[in-house]
Amino acid sequence: MKVLVIGSGGREHALVWKIRQSPRVSRVFCAPGNAGIGEIADLVSLTPDDIHGLRRFAQQEGVDLTVVGPELPLSLGLVDEFEAYGLRVFGPTRQAAQLETSKAFAKEFMRRQGIPTPYFGVFSDPDEAQRYIAEVGAPIVVKADGLAAGKGVMICPTVQEAYEAVDEIMRARLFGDAGDRVVVEEFLEGEEVSFLAFTDGQTVLPLATAQDHKRAFDGDRGPNTGGMGAYSPTPLVTPALADRIVQEVMIPAVKGLRQRDIVYKGILYAGLMVSRESVKVLEFNARFGDPECQPLMLRLRSDLVEVMEAVIEGRLAEVTLSWDPRPAVCVVLAAEGYPGMYETGKIITGLDDLQHWQDGVVFHAGTAKVDGAFTTKGGRVLAVTALGADIPAAITTVYQAVKKISWPGMHYRHDIGQRALLYRATLGQNSSGEAGQ
Ligand code: AMP
Ligand code: GLY
Repeated sequence: MKVLVIGSGGREHALVWKIRQSPRVSRVFCAPGNAGIGEIADLVSLTPDDIHGLRRFAQQEGVDLTVVGPELPLSLGLVDEFEAYGLRVFGPTRQAAQLETSKAFAKEFMRRQGIPTPYFGVFSDPDEAQRYIAEVGAPIVVKADGLAAGKGVMICPTVQEAYEAVDEIMRARLFGDAGDRVVVEEFLEGEEVSFLAFTDGQTVLPLATAQDHKRAFDGDRGPNTGGMGAYSPTPLVTPALADRIVQEVMIPAVKGLRQRDIVYKGILYAGLMVSRESVKVLEFNARFGDPECQPLMLRLRSDLVEVMEAVIEGRLAEVTLSWDPRPAVCVVLAAEGYPGMYETGKIITGLDDLQHWQDGVVFHAGTAKVDGAFTTKGGRVLAVTALGADIPAAITTVYQAVKKISWPGMHYRHDIGQRALLYRATLGQNSSGEAGQ
């Protein structure tokens, strides 16, 4: 069969890499992809927002399955369009994807379904938002309602900063229409974990556990990014906690949508804040996490294409997932300046050395190939991902590989996976993360 993957990041490279391993797949296309993906799939020069162009391409080429990586095409109704033309596509419809694309929708939905989430108010009037802030006090979080490329969340230690956040989002319109409404939300402390599950709208099938590292610099300092690294499994999510998340978050979400006549098919990703006392949902995403997808794909033993087909056909109850018991750690190599302004076009050295790497894969994110050389073309450039007998071994292996790669200004975090070790040391748990897988 022919498969089309939409997107161009490290996540999509990992998906293409995994899909290619399916004995059922004869050809993989990726639109638009990147230089690394171009080594293993046919690149198609269509952008993820070109819904009609992508649909026409899938029809012309006889694509049997389309897999959507990022949220933008979901929010534009790509899945609805493909389904209207009888094309098989993995991902939620536009309505279902509102769980990610509108924070106000997601928060109100959670309140009605009794899904645990920080207390909040939704406002389309800045004065009202500021009155609410004065009432509840700080620290407090102010979020633009719509998609703001991961930058629409402002953590405000003081009431004054929260007022300014409302001004920037709603009055200065820093994120355009995404700031028509704001969500003002309780600030939570704890450990953030990513919980991903396949669902066909009925059955919820969790993936292995994972934790992302969102801040730009070591020790969780600096600005938020799309993700600077991830590992799987995480000992933070014990089997008991995973069960609780399924019962209290994932099933109520899927069921609540169904009650509204929305059948959610695809990946449902809950971004959770976990503390000793509680588990609360910070956000839902309607897609695989990037970079969580990279360690997860390295560990998944099941045929991803079969699982995706079961989702589309509503047969997920028949499926179980099989995982490599070894943990995987992914380190993102970023351009100087990321997540702010950065330059592109730097020549990347050291990749040849890792071409036949046994213990992992260098997934490409923002790369191009110019005159036979790989160059940087984005903020997150590479996602180096390795397996190890345990988390310390995976960490050692991944950083040995990272050391071989360089370009002017390259930066990365040196502490990916350390939270797992810290947690093990403080609570005396073992690191196998039996949870999970
Ligand atoms: P979001 O896009 O809503 O997940 O927010 C981006 C990041 O901001 C999260 O990954 C957290 O690190 C942080 N964040 C969001 N909401 C809260 C909150 N209520 N309390 C503490 N941190 C938060
Ligand atoms: N790694 C976080 C995200 O994909 O949203």
